[in-house]
Amino acid sequence: MSEFLISKLSELFGQNEYLFVYDVIAFLGWVNIVLALIAIALFTFRRINRHVYANQQPFLKKLNKPLSKIHPYIGIALIISAYIHGDLALGSMFRIHTGPLAWWIVVVMMLVALIGKKYRIKKWLPVHRVLAVLFVVSIVLHLFARNILG
Ligand code: HEM
Ligand code: HEM
Repeated sequence: MSEFLISKLSELFGQNEYLFVYDVIAFLGWVNIVLALIAIALFTFRRINRHVYANQQPFLKKLNKPLSKIHPYIGIALIISAYIHGDLALGSMFRIHTGPLAWWIVVVMMLVALIGKKYRIKKWLPVHRVLAVLFVVSIVLHLFARNILG
């Protein structure tokens, strides 16, 4: 599926297919980072507003609603974009590697959010937050010690 996409895109951009794939992997890697930062911004801006401005910063207050609204879609976009990036880079999500580790954490985060909301499980959000911390750790490893797991 990802290979088909590369073959079509390289044709479209008039690039060598075998070299172009590395550009796409790198590009999607940074798209993943941007999506992750937008997802985490919800938490970051809320905490800054609460602890620094006693919840009174008008811009941060305004930003909260749209960020909260797009948050689940950003998460799902991250799962798809990271899947294509990872599929091109490693060919599988079933590898002992920091990339698939990060990917599976986001998938579990999505399940925790969807199941937690649907069945009104009380403590799903703290679990989602702890997973977000693990996700950030896995991404730091992915960036600075990518092959540490083998
Ligand atoms: C994969 C799909 C995801 C879904 C469906 C999802 C869903 C949700 C929902 C419904 C909330 C509560 C909404 C709100 O408080 O406004 C939430 C909060 C949160 N999400 Fe996600 N999320 C996803 C991915 C992510 C990702 C990738 C991250 C970051 C790595 C993340 C980090 C957080 C954090 C830190 C909170 C708590 C916000 C706070 O305490 O103010 N989520 N998520
Ligand atoms: C979940 C979120 C992910 C993020 C934020 C992410 C981010 C990145 C970034 C920024 C790079 C460096 C790109 C560059 O060369 O400039 C990268 C490279 C790489 N990623 Fe990911 N990645 C993620 C998921 C995955 C997954 C799921 C896999 C594998 C299944 C994977 C495998 C790799 C590999 C092998 C490289 C090195 C590629 C190369 O040097 O040719 N990543 N990633």
